[in-house]
Amino acid sequence: MNNLKILYTSAEVYPYAGVGGLGQVSYFLTKQLKKEGIDARIFMPKYGNIDESKYPMEILYEGLIIPSEKGKDIICNIKKYEDKEDKDTPIVYFLENMEFYEKRSNVYGYIDDDMRFLLLSEGLMEFLKKSDWIPDVINCADWHTGHIPNLLRTKYSSEKKLKSISTVFSIHNLMHQGLFDHKNFNDLDFDNGKEDIADIYDPKLKKQNFMRRGIMYADIVTTVSEKYSKEILTEDFGEGLEHLLREVRTKLFGVLNGIDYTYMNPETDSNIIANYNYKNIVRRELNKQDLQKEFNLAVDNSPVIGMVTRLDSQKGLDLVEKVIEPAIRELGIQFVIIGGGDGSFIRYFSSLEKLYPKRVGTHLMPDFILPKKVFSGADMILLPSKFEPSGITQMESMRYGCIPIARNVGGLADSIEDFNPITQKGNGFLFTEYDPYALMSAITRAVENYKNETIWKEIVKSAMKRDFSWENSSLKYIDIYRKAIRLHNHIKDSKEEIIYQMYML
Ligand code: GLC
Repeated sequence: MNNLKILYTSAEVYPYAGVGGLGQVSYFLTKQLKKEGIDARIFMPKYGNIDESKYPMEILYEGLIIPSEKGKDIICNIKKYEDKEDKDTPIVYFLENMEFYEKRSNVYGYIDDDMRFLLLSEGLMEFLKKSDWIPDVINCADWHTGHIPNLLRTKYSSEKKLKSISTVFSIHNLMHQGLFDHKNFNDLDFDNGKEDIADIYDPKLKKQNFMRRGIMYADIVTTVSEKYSKEILTEDFGEGLEHLLREVRTKLFGVLNGIDYTYMNPETDSNIIANYNYKNIVRRELNKQDLQKEFNLAVDNSPVIGMVTRLDSQKGLDLVEKVIEPAIRELGIQFVIIGGGDGSFIRYFSSLEKLYPKRVGTHLMPDFILPKKVFSGADMILLPSKFEPSGITQMESMRYGCIPIARNVGGLADSIEDFNPITQKGNGFLFTEYDPYALMSAITRAVENYKNETIWKEIVKSAMKRDFSWENSSLKYIDIYRKAIRLHNHIKDSKEEIIYQMYML
């Protein structure tokens, strides 16, 4: 019996306010938990562009006071959205506040993001104090929600109603730890996580490391792939938190993300011109021609390599800059890239397109339709990330039979099997060293195998048959929630709080 009550708390949740992978996971995981019979709900801010005529809401609490000692108390409302027609859509509680959310149309990127997200955590505590519905577990996502486990253990620890709530803190990207500059702090500014959380209006808040606190105080910590949960114990991937993570490694687990198999389905997708499944992959040809026409590329049989990515240094774009011209000239590839971000990369790829108009296509801003044209029409997708906690694009593209050429890290390593020419098994091409030669040799291997139609067809089929649906991963989360409850009760019941103290050393 799945009689659990779970509250997923996140700064972004698709479709209300989705920026990237975090928004997708927050929504589709919660939705899958509902399908598994769990009472899973969502808590998030009500940003300015969330449309109440599309998502009709009822006011649950008006004038919820979030106390502040340094400034004036902050007054919020709690609104509830429930899709009465679709029982699989989770109930969403929105925290409404004019100054911090309503007036802002973006999710992130404001100078007071520390205040905005501490408000989210404090707002949740004040809401739950009043609420009849109390979750067994709060699943917090990334630094924005890192103060929730901390508040439950300290400021709100004597609240009877909140005592039994367990916490799972999910790391989606360790690089972002709050406004705290975790790479260049001076010793005086170091946050050991044990001092009280600063008041919302106290400038000291900017120096507190939200991510560290989430990790320290949660009953369980998860990452979005198993491999990343091991990588972050090392200096190379730990972003300065590797010592803490090693200390708490017994409560650290990795669960690979999934993707939504209804939304991402080449058999029914209305955004592509030819639908197909693994039994009739020749129909991908029509989508390839459509993609080539869309970007004014030569319509021919050259291998087309796509990239759908944020233009961010995490994504290994400096390697791409070094290899893409030789790959065009020597291997005869075409290249299509979709995604927005860093201005220097936008300038580079625009000038590349001007240099090779028939071989390079770009759309240098985010888009929802073009990625599907890439997944269904390109032969390969490039993912040379420096680090990749999970990555979603490789799963989406494999579902559409577009073969990943990727670095052997994090979720990429956990979802892609390197093609082995002897056993003829595999569904992608992996490289290990973060270096342009290693990337170029993976591209060359992919292109050589592409030339053999029989082999390539098998690789495509094998990629399309992999199961990345949320069903598998959501069951692992359910286990983790149960574990969190056991651990929490154990800590709560033992007077000396032995385990808890152990983490705090
Ligand atoms: C972050 C990670 C990415 C992951 C996503 C969702 O954006 O960088 O690897 O897929 O979160 O978990």
